[in-house]
Amino acid sequence: MKNKKLNWGIIGAGIIAEKMAGALHLNQDSELLAVASKSIDRARNFAEANKVPKACSYDEIVSNTDIDVIYVATTHNFHFENAKLALEHGKHVLVEKAFTVNAKEAETLARIAKERNLFLMEAIWVRFLPSYIRLKKIISDGFIGEIKQFNISFGNFVPPKYEKRLTDPALAGGVTLDMGIYPISFVCYMLGELPSDVKSITRFSGLGVDEISDYLFKFPSGCMSTINTSHKLLMKNAVMIYGTKGYIEYPDFQEGEKFLLHTHDGTNKIKSIEEIVEKNHKNGFIYQVEEVAKCIKEGKTESSIIPIQETIDIMKLMDGMRAEWGFRYPFEQ
Ligand SMILES: NC(=O)c1ccc[n+]([C@@H]2O[C@H](COP(=O)([O-])OP(=O)(O)OC[C@H]3O[C@@H](n4cnc5c(N)ncnc54)[C@H](OP(=O)(O)O)[C@@H]3O)[C@@H](O)[C@H]2O)c1
Repeated sequence: MKNKKLNWGIIGAGIIAEKMAGALHLNQDSELLAVASKSIDRARNFAEANKVPKACSYDEIVSNTDIDVIYVATTHNFHFENAKLALEHGKHVLVEKAFTVNAKEAETLARIAKERNLFLMEAIWVRFLPSYIRLKKIISDGFIGEIKQFNISFGNFVPPKYEKRLTDPALAGGVTLDMGIYPISFVCYMLGELPSDVKSITRFSGLGVDEISDYLFKFPSGCMSTINTSHKLLMKNAVMIYGTKGYIEYPDFQEGEKFLLHTHDGTNKIKSIEEIVEKNHKNGFIYQVEEVAKCIKEGKTESSIIPIQETIDIMKLMDGMRAEWGFRYPFEQ
C-alpha cells in the first residue's frame, strides 16, 4: 500500500458524490475507479459526466478487488447498510454525514471496522479545511482567553434539489441529521470536548421531520453554546465565539475564510480588531481525501481529527435530543 495509489469507489450516484469525484481527481495519491448506484443508468450517466472508468451495482463495487476504499454518498437512511456491505467485503470506508441515523448503527459499523482492521471515518470535511485549522489554533493559542460562549446560526431555505432528501422521513431527513450536525461538530471540535449538559427544542414540518431546531450545550470546561438551525429559514450563518479576553466573529459559517478577532483586557473596552484570512481550495473536499489517503497509507484505522468514538458520541447526543422531542424515523419504530 505504501507507494501504491489508493483506489476509490463511490456508492450513491447523487449530488454530493460529484463534488467528491472532483476532489478525487485532484488528489495525486487517489484514483477513482468506479461508481455504483441502485440504478445502472444513473451510475452510467454519473460515470460519463465525472470521468469514472466503471459504472456498476453495489454488489459489483464491493466485490471489485482493485478497490481499497468506498465513499458512501447515499441518503442517511442507507448509510448503515451501504457502509456495512463495504466493510464486510474488506473495504475501508468514508461515510457522508450524518454518519448513520442513530448511535446503535454507528457502534455496529465501528465494531465491524475494528474486527477487520479497516479504516472508517465520517466525512466531516470542514474539519480539514485550512480555515478551520487556523481558527482552532487561534482559540487554543489563547488569543481571546478562556472560551466561555459560542453562538451559532446555520439555516437556509433548502434548494429544490435537496428538498426531498431533507424533508422525507423515509430518507432520514430533518435539519438535525442534515445540517445541525455541522455546528454541533464544529463546537465540539473547536473546544476539544463533548457537552455534558444538553437542552434542545424543535419545530416539526408538515411531513414530520425537524425543521427548526435549537440546541443549548454546556461543556465540562464551563463553556456554553447556543445553536439555531433550520432548513426552511435563511439565517445569518454566522458564529460568535466569546472569551475572557476578546471575541471572534466568523461571519460566513461554514466555509468562510475570514475571521474578525476583537481583543480586550477583560473590560468593555476593545483594544484591537484584526482581520484574519485563511484561504481554502475551492473544492474543500480535497483535504479530507488527503487525510483518508494518508491514514490508510500509514495503516491507521481512524483519523485523529474525527475519531470514530467522537462520531458515535455525537450520534448519541443527537439520539438524545430526538428522544426528547419524541422523534423516531419510520424505520426505527
Ligand atoms: N458534505 C457536504 O457538504 C454535503 C452536502 C450535501 C449532502 N451531503 C450528504 O451527502 C449524502 C447524499 O446527499 P446528496 O445531496 O448527494 O443526495 P442525493 O443526490 O439526493 O442522493 C444521493 C443518492 O442517495 C440515493 N437516493 C436519493 N434519494 C433516494 C430515494 N428517494 N430512494 C432511494 N435512494 C435514494 C441514490 O443512491 P443510488 O444512486 O445508489 O440509487 C442517490 O444517488 C447525505 O448524507 C448528505 O447529508 C453532504
